[in-house]
Amino acid sequence: MILVTGGTGYIGAQVVLQLLAHGQTVVIFDNLCNSSRASLERIARLGGRRARFVLGDVRNRAQLDALFADFPIAAVIHCAGLKAVGESVREPLRYYDSNVGGSIALCQAMAAAGVFTLIFSSSATVYGDCATMPIDETCATGLPTNPYGFSKLMAENVMLSLAASDARWSVGLLRYFNPIGAHESGELGEAPAQVPNNLLPYLLQVASGRRDVLQVFGNDYATPDGTGVRDYVHVMDLAEGHWRALQALLGGSGVRVWNLGTGRGYSVLQVVDAFTRTCGVPIALAFEPRRAGDVAQCWANPGKARRELGWQARRSLDDMLRDAWRWECRLAAEHRPIVYTTETSTTIPVAAAQAASGHAAV
Ligand code: NAD
Ligand code: WQD
Repeated sequence: MILVTGGTGYIGAQVVLQLLAHGQTVVIFDNLCNSSRASLERIARLGGRRARFVLGDVRNRAQLDALFADFPIAAVIHCAGLKAVGESVREPLRYYDSNVGGSIALCQAMAAAGVFTLIFSSSATVYGDCATMPIDETCATGLPTNPYGFSKLMAENVMLSLAASDARWSVGLLRYFNPIGAHESGELGEAPAQVPNNLLPYLLQVASGRRDVLQVFGNDYATPDGTGVRDYVHVMDLAEGHWRALQALLGGSGVRVWNLGTGRGYSVLQVVDAFTRTCGVPIALAFEPRRAGDVAQCWANPGKARRELGWQARRSLDDMLRDAWRWECRLAAEHRPIVYTTETSTTIPVAAAQAASGHAAV
């Protein structure tokens, strides 16, 4: 049985589906601070089987010890964590507590239970503002631009030290680039209970009429059209990477690092153009100053994952946008829109909309 922490969340749920598709039994451990039990029903429908679910917090050792006592867990995929960059600047202690403290408690509980195979949801953010593109795993880490990024790097370092101290550990650090998209059925996607902070959720809100304009943060970067360039990777491709990594890690020893990205960068304006072309919805834009902490460009060299895991992202940007839009339309059709306040501005009557929808997430 595989434990997936954060398994009701955006990425974790897709990882759970992958595991189910490969015949694994899965237990999800999540405190539902940014997801809901609705994910469990969606996973069961798409996966044809249920994952077990335990409500709990990765910072809580007693809950973790009970979890390992109750289930025959062979390996852990640790997706649980907080991920809003802006929020991490305002509430750094909460981020270090969840992302570092939670990872330490999890590793302690694993060791106590004799479980030493671990995959960690890390991020390209650990590379900070890298001077050369594409970024491969040998690029220096150490200067993330915000507390969230530092929390990921600190957790990585905890795992590196741990594996150096005890050869029983086999750890995979998966550095995701920019995961977007949804399950290709349109039935499972991002449904955060918290404020989003990424491009796609905002773009989808504009497309669905819940926001007037998409703010474009910076059009004076040294990129082909002046807007930020990122390596967007389909969340289903990303999930497949976890399965491949798990196969590589089982029975192994030490720490292995893999970038999970496509190797191709797209600017904000290219993403918007692709969305309009693919989904047929025009997006109103407003150019704004650069967002604090943003880097101009960031894309992966995914060669190591291809060579060592046989993993390669297969889905195109158009696929990602089409699937994300399908999911957004599904949510709208269910009359359970996700309504957020935003970190920078509010263009929708949040209180009224929340009262009407009765819930902030599916
Ligand atoms: P998400 O918020 O959708 O999922 C995270 C899940 O963890 C949620 O279900 C949340 O309820 C749960 N959780 C949070 N704190 C917890 C705690 N203390 N105990 C138990 N459960 C807790 O986010 P996601 O996009 O699915 O991200 C998953 C992981 O991938 C995170 O660790 C994130 O930092 C990392 N990551 C995400 C991205 C991205 O752009 N989405 C990029 C790189 C890395
Ligand atoms: C992408 C581009 C923005 C919103 C963040 C984290 C990173 C990782 C992925 C977790 C940038 C621009 C965005 C908007 C915009 N998360 N943008 N208008 O910043 O590359 O990465 O998420 O680990 O750690 O930092 O992703 O989607 O926020 O931004 O113009 O409303 O879109 O400036 O150029 P980012 P993003």
